[in-house]
Amino acid sequence: MTARVRKAVFPVAGLGTRLLPATKTIPKEMLTIVDRPLIQYAVDEAREAGIEQLIFVTGRGKSSLDDYFDMAFELERTMEQAGKSLDPLEPSRSGYGEIVTIRQQQPLGLGHAVWCAREVIGDEPFAVLLPDEVMRGRPNCLAQMMTAYAQVGGNIVAALEVDPSETHKYGVVDPGSRNGPLTEIKGLVEKPAPGTAPSNLMLPGRYILQPEVLRALDAHEKGAGGEIQLTDAMAKLIGQQPFHGFSFEGQRFDCGHAAGFVIANLALALEREDIAPTVREFLSGL
Ligand code: G1P
Repeated sequence: MTARVRKAVFPVAGLGTRLLPATKTIPKEMLTIVDRPLIQYAVDEAREAGIEQLIFVTGRGKSSLDDYFDMAFELERTMEQAGKSLDPLEPSRSGYGEIVTIRQQQPLGLGHAVWCAREVIGDEPFAVLLPDEVMRGRPNCLAQMMTAYAQVGGNIVAALEVDPSETHKYGVVDPGSRNGPLTEIKGLVEKPAPGTAPSNLMLPGRYILQPEVLRALDAHEKGAGGEIQLTDAMAKLIGQQPFHGFSFEGQRFDCGHAAGFVIANLALALEREDIAPTVREFLSGL
Protein backbone atom coordinates (compact mmCIF):
# COMPACT_ATOMS: atom_id res chain seq x y z
CA MET A 1 0.00 0.00 0.00
CA THR A 2 1.32 3.46 -0.89
CA ALA A 3 0.67 6.33 1.52
CA ARG A 4 -1.85 8.83 0.14
CA VAL A 5 -0.58 12.16 -1.20
CA ARG A 6 -2.51 14.85 0.67
CA LYS A 7 -0.20 17.84 0.53
CA ALA A 8 1.18 19.93 -2.31
CA VAL A 9 3.93 22.53 -2.27
CA PHE A 10 3.75 25.54 -4.60
CA PRO A 11 7.10 27.35 -4.77
CA VAL A 12 6.02 30.93 -5.43
CA ALA A 13 8.83 33.04 -4.03
CA GLY A 14 10.63 33.57 -7.34
CA LEU A 15 11.31 37.08 -8.65
CA GLY A 16 9.97 36.36 -12.14
CA THR A 17 12.77 38.30 -13.82
CA ARG A 18 11.97 36.81 -17.24
CA LEU A 19 8.61 38.58 -17.13
CA LEU A 20 9.85 42.06 -16.19
CA PRO A 21 8.76 44.81 -16.13
CA ALA A 22 5.30 43.50 -15.08
CA THR A 23 6.82 41.47 -12.25
CA LYS A 24 8.33 44.58 -10.64
CA THR A 25 5.09 44.89 -8.68
CA ILE A 26 2.89 41.97 -9.77
CA PRO A 27 3.91 38.50 -8.60
CA LYS A 28 4.52 36.30 -11.65
CA GLU A 29 1.95 33.84 -10.30
CA MET A 30 -0.72 36.57 -10.37
CA LEU A 31 -0.30 37.32 -14.07
CA THR A 32 -3.38 36.15 -15.89
CA ILE A 33 -3.91 33.51 -18.51
CA VAL A 34 -7.23 34.66 -19.99
CA ASP A 35 -9.02 35.83 -16.82
CA ARG A 36 -7.43 33.91 -13.98
CA PRO A 37 -3.99 34.04 -12.45
CA LEU A 38 -1.37 31.41 -13.16
CA ILE A 39 -1.49 30.17 -9.59
CA GLN A 40 -5.13 29.24 -9.93
CA TYR A 41 -4.44 26.76 -12.71
CA ALA A 42 -1.92 24.94 -10.51
CA VAL A 43 -4.19 25.05 -7.46
CA ASP A 44 -7.16 23.74 -9.46
CA GLU A 45 -4.98 20.94 -10.84
CA ALA A 46 -3.90 19.94 -7.33
CA ARG A 47 -7.42 20.07 -5.89
CA GLU A 48 -8.82 18.00 -8.77
CA ALA A 49 -6.05 15.46 -8.16
CA GLY A 50 -7.21 15.04 -4.54
CA ILE A 51 -4.76 17.32 -2.69
CA GLU A 52 -6.16 18.58 0.62
CA GLN A 53 -3.50 20.94 1.93
CA LEU A 54 -1.86 23.60 -0.25
CA ILE A 55 1.49 24.89 0.94
CA PHE A 56 2.63 28.17 -0.64
CA VAL A 57 6.30 28.97 -0.21
CA THR A 58 6.29 32.72 -0.74
CA GLY A 59 8.55 35.71 -0.35
CA ARG A 60 8.35 39.49 -0.15
CA GLY A 61 5.67 41.19 -2.24
CA LYS A 62 3.60 38.04 -2.69
CA SER A 63 0.76 38.76 -0.28
CA SER A 64 -1.74 39.18 -3.13
CA LEU A 65 -1.57 35.39 -3.56
CA ASP A 66 -2.97 34.87 -0.06
CA ASP A 67 -5.62 37.52 -0.63
CA TYR A 68 -6.63 35.90 -3.89
CA PHE A 69 -7.58 32.63 -2.21
CA ASP A 70 -9.42 34.39 0.59
CA MET A 71 -13.14 35.29 0.61
CA ALA A 72 -13.57 38.82 -0.79
CA PHE A 73 -16.34 39.84 1.60
CA GLU A 74 -16.66 43.51 0.64
CA LEU A 75 -16.56 42.76 -3.06
CA GLU A 76 -19.16 40.01 -2.77
CA ARG A 77 -21.45 42.16 -0.63
CA THR A 78 -21.20 45.08 -3.05
CA MET A 79 -21.87 42.86 -6.04
CA GLU A 80 -24.84 41.22 -4.35
CA GLN A 81 -26.34 44.58 -3.45
CA ALA A 82 -25.93 45.71 -7.04
CA GLY A 83 -27.73 42.56 -8.19
CA LYS A 84 -24.65 41.22 -9.96
CA SER A 85 -23.93 37.52 -10.35
CA LEU A 86 -21.16 36.14 -8.14
CA ASP A 87 -20.37 33.45 -10.73
CA PRO A 88 -17.16 35.14 -11.95
CA LEU A 89 -15.81 34.88 -8.40
CA GLU A 90 -16.71 31.22 -8.07
CA PRO A 91 -13.26 29.78 -8.75
CA SER A 92 -11.76 31.67 -5.85
CA ARG A 93 -14.66 31.50 -3.39
CA SER A 94 -13.89 29.10 -0.52
CA GLY A 95 -13.56 25.39 -1.15
CA TYR A 96 -9.80 25.44 -1.59
CA GLY A 97 -9.03 23.31 1.43
CA GLU A 98 -6.37 24.36 3.84
CA ILE A 99 -3.80 26.89 2.66
CA VAL A 100 -0.55 27.24 4.58
CA THR A 101 1.92 30.00 3.73
CA ILE A 102 5.62 29.78 4.50
CA ARG A 103 8.23 32.42 3.80
CA GLN A 104 11.41 31.60 1.96
CA GLN A 105 13.65 34.28 3.41
CA GLN A 106 16.39 34.07 0.80
CA PRO A 107 16.21 33.08 -2.89
CA LEU A 108 18.48 30.04 -2.56
CA GLY A 109 16.83 27.84 -5.18
CA LEU A 110 13.91 25.48 -5.79
CA GLY A 111 15.33 22.78 -3.51
CA HIS A 112 15.61 25.31 -0.70
CA ALA A 113 12.02 26.49 -1.28
CA VAL A 114 10.71 22.94 -0.91
CA TRP A 115 12.93 22.40 2.15
CA CYS A 116 11.36 25.49 3.76
CA ALA A 117 8.06 23.54 3.84
CA ARG A 118 9.57 20.51 5.63
CA GLU A 119 7.81 21.02 8.98
CA VAL A 120 4.42 21.30 7.31
CA ILE A 121 5.03 18.35 5.00
CA GLY A 122 6.17 16.13 7.88
CA ASP A 123 6.79 12.47 7.20
CA GLU A 124 4.50 11.80 4.29
CA PRO A 125 4.66 11.84 0.48
CA PHE A 126 3.84 15.17 -1.13
CA ALA A 127 3.41 16.80 -4.50
CA VAL A 128 5.24 19.83 -5.90
CA LEU A 129 3.71 21.96 -8.67
CA LEU A 130 5.58 24.79 -10.40
CA PRO A 131 2.83 27.28 -11.28
CA ASP A 132 4.58 28.88 -14.26
CA GLU A 133 4.19 25.56 -16.04
CA VAL A 134 0.52 25.25 -17.04
CA MET A 135 -0.57 21.70 -17.85
CA ARG A 136 -3.75 20.85 -19.72
CA GLY A 137 -5.12 17.32 -19.82
CA ARG A 138 -8.13 15.26 -18.80
CA PRO A 139 -7.60 13.95 -16.21
CA ASN A 140 -5.05 16.60 -15.40
CA CYS A 141 -1.31 15.95 -15.23
CA LEU A 142 -1.05 15.49 -11.45
CA ALA A 143 -4.19 13.32 -11.41
CA GLN A 144 -2.65 11.05 -14.07
CA MET A 145 0.51 10.85 -11.96
CA MET A 146 -1.53 9.99 -8.84
CA THR A 147 -3.06 7.01 -10.67
CA ALA A 148 0.41 5.77 -11.61
CA TYR A 149 1.63 6.42 -8.05
CA ALA A 150 -1.11 4.21 -6.62
CA GLN A 151 0.38 1.40 -8.71
CA VAL A 152 4.14 1.85 -8.33
CA GLY A 153 4.60 4.17 -5.32
CA GLY A 154 7.96 5.82 -4.68
CA ASN A 155 8.82 9.02 -6.52
CA ILE A 156 7.20 10.06 -9.80
CA VAL A 157 8.10 13.14 -11.80
CA ALA A 158 6.41 14.37 -14.96
CA ALA A 159 8.76 13.97 -17.90
CA LEU A 160 8.47 15.53 -21.32
CA GLU A 161 10.47 15.27 -24.52
CA VAL A 162 11.83 18.59 -25.77
CA ASP A 163 14.10 19.59 -28.61
CA PRO A 164 17.69 18.69 -27.60
CA SER A 165 18.66 22.36 -27.99
CA GLU A 166 16.43 23.15 -24.99
CA THR A 167 17.71 20.67 -22.40
CA HIS A 168 20.27 23.05 -20.82
CA LYS A 169 17.37 25.05 -19.34
CA TYR A 170 15.84 22.19 -17.36
CA GLY A 171 16.23 19.19 -15.11
CA VAL A 172 16.92 16.23 -17.42
CA VAL A 173 16.36 12.47 -16.98
CA ASP A 174 18.87 9.69 -17.62
CA PRO A 175 16.27 7.13 -18.69
CA GLY A 176 16.17 3.37 -18.08
CA SER A 177 13.52 1.02 -19.40
CA ARG A 178 10.08 2.28 -20.35
CA ASN A 179 6.78 0.65 -19.45
CA GLY A 180 3.77 2.52 -20.90
CA PRO A 181 3.84 6.08 -19.55
CA LEU A 182 6.45 5.20 -16.91
CA THR A 183 10.18 5.45 -17.53
CA GLU A 184 12.58 4.15 -14.95
CA ILE A 185 14.97 6.92 -13.89
CA LYS A 186 18.66 6.04 -13.63
CA GLY A 187 19.93 9.57 -13.10
CA LEU A 188 18.91 13.23 -13.03
CA VAL A 189 20.92 16.30 -14.02
CA GLU A 190 19.95 19.93 -13.47
CA LYS A 191 20.66 22.23 -16.41
CA PRO A 192 23.28 20.12 -18.20
CA ALA A 193 25.74 22.06 -20.37
CA PRO A 194 24.62 22.11 -24.04
CA GLY A 195 25.47 18.84 -25.73
CA THR A 196 25.94 16.88 -22.49
CA ALA A 197 22.35 15.98 -21.54
CA PRO A 198 21.72 12.25 -20.99
CA SER A 199 18.46 12.48 -22.99
CA ASN A 200 15.92 15.03 -24.20
CA LEU A 201 13.47 14.05 -21.44
CA MET A 202 13.06 17.08 -19.20
CA LEU A 203 11.19 17.77 -15.96
CA PRO A 204 8.28 20.17 -16.56
CA GLY A 205 7.53 20.82 -12.90
CA ARG A 206 5.14 18.21 -11.50
CA TYR A 207 6.51 15.92 -8.81
CA ILE A 208 5.26 13.29 -6.35
CA LEU A 209 8.05 12.79 -3.82
CA GLN A 210 8.79 10.80 -0.69
CA PRO A 211 9.72 12.76 2.46
CA GLU A 212 13.29 11.40 2.35
CA VAL A 213 14.05 14.01 -0.31
CA LEU A 214 13.78 16.61 2.46
CA ARG A 215 16.59 14.87 4.35
CA ALA A 216 18.70 15.01 1.19
CA LEU A 217 17.99 18.77 1.08
CA ASP A 218 19.14 19.24 4.71
CA ALA A 219 22.72 19.36 3.45
CA HIS A 220 22.00 22.60 1.52
CA GLU A 221 24.42 21.55 -1.21
CA LYS A 222 24.64 24.02 -4.06
CA GLY A 223 24.28 22.86 -7.63
CA ALA A 224 23.66 24.44 -11.04
CA GLY A 225 23.69 28.25 -10.92
CA GLY A 226 24.94 28.16 -7.31
CA GLU A 227 21.40 27.25 -6.17
CA ILE A 228 20.14 24.45 -3.93
CA GLN A 229 18.50 22.26 -6.56
CA LEU A 230 15.54 19.93 -6.03
CA THR A 231 16.85 17.82 -8.92
CA ASP A 232 20.13 17.11 -7.09
CA ALA A 233 18.29 16.04 -3.92
CA MET A 234 15.99 13.77 -5.95
CA ALA A 235 19.00 12.21 -7.66
CA LYS A 236 20.21 11.01 -4.25
CA LEU A 237 17.09 8.86 -3.81
CA ILE A 238 17.64 6.93 -7.05
CA GLY A 239 18.54 3.34 -6.25
CA GLN A 240 17.09 3.63 -2.74
CA GLN A 241 13.44 4.10 -3.70
CA PRO A 242 11.43 3.51 -6.89
CA PHE A 243 11.89 6.54 -9.17
CA HIS A 244 9.95 7.02 -12.39
CA GLY A 245 9.40 9.63 -15.04
CA PHE A 246 5.79 9.93 -16.20
CA SER A 247 4.83 10.89 -19.75
CA PHE A 248 1.44 12.50 -19.32
CA GLU A 249 -1.32 12.91 -21.90
CA GLY A 250 -1.94 16.56 -22.52
CA GLN A 251 -0.29 19.86 -23.29
CA ARG A 252 2.29 21.87 -21.41
CA PHE A 253 2.65 25.65 -21.58
CA ASP A 254 5.81 27.24 -20.21
CA CYS A 255 4.47 30.57 -18.98
CA GLY A 256 7.70 31.72 -17.36
CA HIS A 257 8.70 33.80 -20.39
CA ALA A 258 6.87 36.19 -22.68
CA ALA A 259 6.39 33.98 -25.76
CA GLY A 260 5.15 30.98 -23.76
CA PHE A 261 2.88 33.26 -21.79
CA VAL A 262 1.25 34.71 -24.91
CA ILE A 263 0.89 31.25 -26.49
CA ALA A 264 -0.82 29.95 -23.34
CA ASN A 265 -3.23 32.88 -23.42
CA LEU A 266 -4.16 32.16 -27.02
CA ALA A 267 -4.48 28.40 -26.56
CA LEU A 268 -6.59 28.66 -23.43
CA ALA A 269 -8.74 31.42 -24.92
CA LEU A 270 -9.53 29.04 -27.78
CA GLU A 271 -10.69 26.44 -25.20
CA ARG A 272 -13.23 28.88 -23.80
CA GLU A 273 -16.65 28.72 -25.45
CA ASP A 274 -17.58 32.26 -24.44
CA ILE A 275 -14.60 34.01 -26.04
CA ALA A 276 -13.18 31.50 -28.54
CA PRO A 277 -15.23 32.67 -31.58
CA THR A 278 -14.06 36.29 -31.21
CA VAL A 279 -10.43 35.32 -30.66
CA ARG A 280 -10.49 32.82 -33.53
CA GLU A 281 -11.94 35.40 -35.91
CA PHE A 282 -9.25 37.91 -34.96
CA LEU A 283 -6.46 35.35 -35.33
CA SER A 284 -7.59 34.15 -38.73
CA GLY A 285 -7.60 37.79 -39.87
CA LEU A 286 -3.96 38.25 -38.90
C1 G1P B 1 13.08 24.50 -12.46
C2 G1P B 1 13.71 23.15 -12.11
C3 G1P B 1 13.99 22.35 -13.38
C4 G1P B 1 12.71 22.20 -14.18
C5 G1P B 1 12.12 23.59 -14.48
C6 G1P B 1 10.76 23.46 -15.16
O1 G1P B 1 14.04 25.29 -13.13
O2 G1P B 1 14.90 23.38 -11.39
O3 G1P B 1 14.49 21.07 -13.04
O4 G1P B 1 12.97 21.48 -15.38
O5 G1P B 1 11.92 24.34 -13.28
O6 G1P B 1 10.27 24.71 -15.53
P1 G1P B 1 13.89 26.90 -13.26
O7 G1P B 1 12.93 27.13 -14.38
O8 G1P B 1 13.38 27.39 -11.95
O9 G1P B 1 15.27 27.39 -13.58
